[in-house]
Amino acid sequence: MVRLVVFGRQGAGKGTQSARLAAHFGAPHISTGDMLREAAAAGTPIGLEAKGYMDAGRLLPDEVMLGVIEERLAQPDVLERGFLLDGFPRTLGQAEALLGITEVDVAVNLEVPEDVVIERISSRRVCQGCGRIYSVAEPPSRNWTCDTCGGEVLQRPDDTPDAVAARLAAYQAETIPAVHWFDTKGLLVTVDGVGTPDDVAERLIAAVEARLAERR
Ligand code: AP5
Ligand code: MG
Repeated sequence: MVRLVVFGRQGAGKGTQSARLAAHFGAPHISTGDMLREAAAAGTPIGLEAKGYMDAGRLLPDEVMLGVIEERLAQPDVLERGFLLDGFPRTLGQAEALLGITEVDVAVNLEVPEDVVIERISSRRVCQGCGRIYSVAEPPSRNWTCDTCGGEVLQRPDDTPDAVAARLAAYQAETIPAVHWFDTKGLLVTVDGVGTPDDVAERLIAAVEARLAERR
């Protein structure tokens, strides 16, 4: 089993790369953003609360997120195969709480400059059915219909310029301290996230494998 955390600013490719890492390492991909979007679409109480925060580009309160993640990490697939966390932790409080619940083998920091992520976010399109990520440069094979599930592929409601600016500011103020904290624990490896998705995946897998080998 492998327990990974993927850090990276908005649009760095956490979702894109986590899908590949999950396939490589055989661990479940847990994206808190995807979980909240599913809850919002289903109209659950947490989902309805989350929608207001997400559309404005603000972080949900730590206590709400801790409830969500604790429940998910107690599921049998995680206990058996580990996890790949995408979008959690996002604050120092969440980081400390996570290491109180479970061990983490490696945390990856996917580094992509701000001008590049703004460009990527503006061309991102996402399947409303299964969450698969596309872009204007790499659309589905026909008519903005998902190749995996046939769902409609649209722009995310929080990919507006105002919400993106708020999300990037929250990353700087709240998440960078969590990234540094993982570094002080000796758990962080930084990987260049610029290049084709395949090149980045190759770099990431090599960096994670090397760190796992050191720890064995
Ligand atoms: P979340 O869904 O996690 O959004 P985010 O952090 O803003 O990150 P993104 O999903 O925007 O970026 P990504 O790194 O996954 O990039 P992607 O792979 O899509 O969170 C949404 C909201 O939920 C938060 O704002 C908050 O409100 C709430 N929330 C979630 N977790 C929370 C928590 N722990 N605490 C509190 N609140 C929480 O790639 C982007 C685009 O680039 C795509 O189009 C992709 O095709 C393209 N692309 C990817 N890689 C490449 C490449 N190498 N070259 C060219 N294009 C690429
Ligand atoms: Mg994402």
